[in-house]
Formats: sequence, C-alpha cells, structure tokens
Amino acid sequence: MSRKILVTSALPYANGSIHLGHLVEYIQTDIWVRFQKMQGHTCHYVCADDTHGTPIMLRAEKEGITPEELIARVWQEHYDDFKAFHVEFDHYGSTNSKATQVFSNTIYGKLKTAGLIAQRSIEQFYDPLKQMFLPDRFIKGECPKCGANDQYGDNCEVCGAAYTPAEVKNPYSAVSGAKPEMRESVHYFFKLSDPSCQKFLQDWTTGKLTKEPPLQAEAANKMQEWLGEAGDNKLTDWDISRDAPYFGFEIPDATGKYFYVWLDAPVGYMGSFQALCEKESLSFDEYWKVGSKTELYHFIGKDILYFHALFWPAMLQHAGYRTPTKLFAHGFLTVNGEKMSKSRGTFITAKSYIDAGLNPEYLRYYYATKLNGSMEDIDLNLEDFVAKVNSDLIGKYVNIASRASGFIHRLYDGEIARKETQRDFATWDATSILHEARSGNTNSLPTLLGLLRGDAKEIALSYEFRDYGKAIRRIMERADLVNKVYDAFKPWEAAKTNKNLAGEICVASLEAFRLLTIYLSPVLPKLAGNAFEFLNLPKQNWPDVNSQLRLGHKINEYKHLMTRLDPKQIEAMVVANQENLKPMPETHSPTRHTEAQQHAITPIADTISIDDFSKIDLRVAKIINAEHVEGAEKLLKLTLDIGEEKPRTVFAGIKSAYDPAKLIGRMTVMVANLAPRKMKFGMSEGMVLAASGDAPGLFILSPDDGAQAGMKVK
Ligand code: MSP
Ligand code: ZN
Repeated sequence: MSRKILVTSALPYANGSIHLGHLVEYIQTDIWVRFQKMQGHTCHYVCADDTHGTPIMLRAEKEGITPEELIARVWQEHYDDFKAFHVEFDHYGSTNSKATQVFSNTIYGKLKTAGLIAQRSIEQFYDPLKQMFLPDRFIKGECPKCGANDQYGDNCEVCGAAYTPAEVKNPYSAVSGAKPEMRESVHYFFKLSDPSCQKFLQDWTTGKLTKEPPLQAEAANKMQEWLGEAGDNKLTDWDISRDAPYFGFEIPDATGKYFYVWLDAPVGYMGSFQALCEKESLSFDEYWKVGSKTELYHFIGKDILYFHALFWPAMLQHAGYRTPTKLFAHGFLTVNGEKMSKSRGTFITAKSYIDAGLNPEYLRYYYATKLNGSMEDIDLNLEDFVAKVNSDLIGKYVNIASRASGFIHRLYDGEIARKETQRDFATWDATSILHEARSGNTNSLPTLLGLLRGDAKEIALSYEFRDYGKAIRRIMERADLVNKVYDAFKPWEAAKTNKNLAGEICVASLEAFRLLTIYLSPVLPKLAGNAFEFLNLPKQNWPDVNSQLRLGHKINEYKHLMTRLDPKQIEAMVVANQENLKPMPETHSPTRHTEAQQHAITPIADTISIDDFSKIDLRVAKIINAEHVEGAEKLLKLTLDIGEEKPRTVFAGIKSAYDPAKLIGRMTVMVANLAPRKMKFGMSEGMVLAASGDAPGLFILSPDDGAQAGMKVK
C-alpha cells in the first residue's frame, strides 16, 4: 500500500554554520526519506532556516549588515552544505517568509479565539544603554549560591545552581556591559496551564489519541516528568512575545510586540511545505487538516523535545490542525568520546569536512552504522571512522565489483554470459553456503543470491524503524560472505581452466553487488548511482531486488568507485577547525535555546611578573599588504614589515571588521616571537593584537604617530 508522508528535520538556526553534530540529524532524515521513496511511497522532505530572534539581530548588527542580509547569506551557506552531503530536501525555505507569517498569525488568532492567549505584565531586566529588554542569557553576574563571577542569568556553570536573573548579584548586560534596570512590560502567553491543554497533552503524549504512540518510550517518560499524572496541572503558561527591538514577526494586534522565535519556528514546517505545494501542485490541506490520512514525522534532537512534544502539538490541536504522527528524537554527537570542542578542533564544520577533500558518503556511512532509532548520543571516533570506512566500504563492498568485473570483461567482453540458475535451497544458511562453496558446489551461488534477496524485508524493517546500524550490519555480513564465496571458487584459477565456472562466479558476484547496492542506496546515493552506472542499469528501487542481471546484458568498464580514507585528511581537517587565533564562545551550550550566544566580559587574568611579560616581544608593524584568503571565513592575510629583511606573513581573524584595502599602510602592533603556526592557508609568523569584547566590533591596535616599524613595545 502506498503511503503519503511528510517529513521534516529541525530548522537550523541562521546564526551559525552547519557542523557534524547537525548532520547527525539531516543525514539520518535523508536516509529515511530516500528509503521511503525507494519503497514507492510518496514522501516529501521539507526544512528551512530558523531565522528569528535576538542573537541573529545582534549578530547582524555586529557585522554591520541587516538581519535580512545575514539570513540570506547564511541560507546559501546552509543550502550548499546540505547539498554537499547529499541531503536532498524537496524544499528548503526560511521562516522569514510570508507563508510562515500567515500561518503564525492564523494559529495565534485561533488560540486567541479559543481563549488561550493571556496578557500579563512581567518584570524583566532592561539594558538602558542598548535600549532593549535582556533575555536571561544576556544577563551576567555573580552566582547567588556560590558567588562565582561572570555567570549567566539563568544558571551557574560553576556550582550548577538554577535561578532567575533577578537573583544574580551585581548583574550586568552581556550586550553592552551596562547595569541593567528592572522594567515592566506586557507579555503575551499561550495558556498551557489551561486544563484543556494539559489534558490534551497528557492524552497525546501517552498515545491515547493516536493509533500508535507518537513518542519513543524514552521521550514519553521525559514528558511524564514534565507533565505529571493526569490532573497534576504542572505546566505553566508559555511566554510567546518579545518586545522591540526584535527580529521576527510583529504580533498582529500588538504594536511593538513580536512572536518569540520558538512560536514561529515550527510553523516554518508549514510555511516550507506550503512553498512545496505551490511548486509541485500538492494539496496543503491533505497533509495538515484534522483527520488527515497522511503521515507527518519530525526528526529532532533530544534538546528540542520539549518544544516539539508540548508546545507544538498543543498549538496545532487548539488551532484546528492535525498533530504529528510521530516525533523521532535522536541523541547528540560526541567526537572521540567528548563534547565537540573548538580548542581540540573537533567542532567540525560541514564545510571544513568537504574542504579537507573528504567524501561526504564516508560520514553518511559511519553515521548509519551508529544510528539505532534511540535517543542515545552517538560518537564519531575518528580512528574508528577511518577503519570502518576502509574495511567495510572499500574492503568489502566496492571490492566485489572491482574484482568480478575484470573477468567479465576479459572472458566475456563485459557481457553477462551466464544465466543465474533459479534454485531454491532455502534451508541453507550463510554457514552452509560457505561450506558448500568451499567444497566446490556451485549450487551455493544461486543459494547465496536467494539468501541476499530474502534479506530485503528485514533490511527494510530496520530502515523503517531507523535502526540503520542493524541494516548495515546485515549488509556488511553479506558483503563479507560474497567475498568469501568468491575466494572459495578462486575464479583467477578457474579463468585459465574452466571459463564457465569463472563466468558463473563473477556473474553471481555482480548480481550480489547489485543487490547490496540497492540496500545501501539510501545511505550512499551517489556511490549507488555510480555503481548502477557501472552495471549499466537505471536507478534501482526496492522492488528491483526481485529482478536480476539479464543474459546478454553488457556492463560498463569498471571505474574506481571510492577511494580509501586517508587519515591525513582527518588530521588536516582537525587542524583547520582548531580555533586559537581568537577564541570564540561555543555556540552550542545546552541552554542555547533560551536565547543564548553571548560573549562573556572576560575577567582579568591571573597576575604575572614583569619577567613573564618581557618574554613577549611586541613590535610596531607596518601593514604593507592585506588581502582576503580564499575559503577562509574569518581570516585576512597580512604582510607586515617589522624592520626585518623579509616581511612577515600573519593570518589574522579580523575579516569581519576590516576591509583589507583600508588596512594597507597602517601601523599596528604584533607579537614577533610567537612560534610560527602552520595553518590551512599557509604559515602564520606571528600575531597582531586586536581588542574585542561584548559590544560589537573588533579593533586592531595602532601606535601613536611617529612610531617606526620594528620599534619594540614594552
Ligand atoms: N532552530 C532550532 C530548531 C527549530 S525546529 C522548529 C534549533 N536549531 S539548531 O541549529 O540548534 O539545531 C538544529 C538541529 O540539529 C536540532 O534538532 C538539534 O538537536 C540538532 N543538533 C545540533 N547540534 C547537535 C549535535 N551536536 N548532535 C546532534 N544533533 C545536534 O535547535
Ligand atoms: Zn554557582
């Protein structure tokens, strides 16, 4: 029976680059969508950039561009990154779209009519300098529990205490450094505390309203914690408005009030699907009206479960739309067993992976081996990554095609000259097949193919349940068996004495390769495409498992299908991601969804002696050339004269702040005795000094008029 399915991945924030953590989700979803399409189901995959909120507004300001300019640029970057990893959306939109705004307004209007919107005055910190209300994460100060300096307004990273910004001692604005004032303002709330909402969510999350439970068991347990038992009424109202200045949608009947980014973000799923409907003449209502026969799935990370399992279904339900069929939540990526880290170079961007010359399908494959449909974190162990890709993909799978094709060309001019005998030895398992092959019984060949075809159902179920690891284990077990059976018959010897036998083995191996390729297609779409081209076949779908290479069919010359993963490429990628020119805050703190992403005002460092200081040789430098570096996001290449014979080359992370042309001829200050550092773009022979803080901007130093290149600064 053909199904109609709408699938989404979470909408990435438009204020950061796509990294390998994100890709756990997008690759996972893409594999599932491709699998559904191969089954012959109608499956639409939509996504979009999540473009609103304070961090995006402030970042644009810092870069001296409009938020619209920022989100347009980031959209293109995200789009290119996804494309490079073969993540194939049917539509990739933006939440800053007319359609998303219209749906947001409609939903808000319906919630209001249902009596589920409340207005209340709340007290919030206000930055008098910046003239804006400060979200909790933009307040910093001393922890009220342990007194630690420089803690965020909602929790302490030293003692772990959670509190409100009002409790913070000596608070300051992380935007301007100013002392914030408490001010009152009217906010709009979605009344989740309303008994009808709580009852609905209790029923929905426990699966009482749907044929199948919409949440994984672990997720349902989490919800139970948040919701309590029936009648507990643990939910509080959700604050859905923010005051100007804010980059987002203004609330229709409330001038100067904007929808909080998390109100319109999931609505972006609808907005993006609406755009697809226009593109492909689909019916929006068929997928979103109450009682829809279609299926709706959201792939999300475990960190945003709360928004998707509580707020979103409650919004949909009370605004008269269908609710999701299921939420598929996954865990977080760790690299080498630890949280991704910029200083270790394991906060790896999608772009840097591609730039290092790594094949995106290596990563798709590795993630597939690790994913199992649960919310457990998954680890990218870089050594294991190299080993698995090389031993499985190259050593087992690709190997079958490369060894069998040679004989087909040599002996039969590339023609499938042997017919696959149709025999049913259903009682033979893998062990007996290998045993029979080793004793020279050629019945083991059709039996092997029968075994492989028989796997189609189980592999399909593994994909369906997102246990890709299980699917891959089975596929690789079979690839291994095919190689062993091949070895057992020694076609390289048979080719000299028994051409028919060699032909039979090689044809069976190629047929096995065709079947394995079908099974791997959702994970390795590009490689599968090339493999089918080599077999001279059109793209194969799941039902093609039951066909076979025909007698007389001609295959193409074998061309390299995949090269080995060279560990050197991994090393280069890690170096390229190592951020020590200018430390940047990690953008993915666990609480980033509460409008995070601010830089700390750095406390004064530990006291040093004059001897410590004098180790640093600071020199006045003349910038004799400055230019952009192809492919570098943050760097400018500076050529500096400090009175030496040869000028120095320094890569400086100041691209966001300076037009290189304007730097040429200026004097500045550099650290002249810093050990040279090999960077992706060349050797950096020192460091220029620049000031930066929480306020926007980055400022290089200049000596007073009259200072000469090479003068010592002390
Ligand atoms: N903008 C919100 C989602 C709105 S959906 C209506 C958001 N954006 S995000 O860019 O921070 O994350 C996008 C998705 O990537 C989320 O599902 C998130 O869980 C996932 N991941 C981000 N970092 C991740 C890892 N390190 N590991 C695995 N998934 C990660 O959340
Ligand atoms: Zn503390």
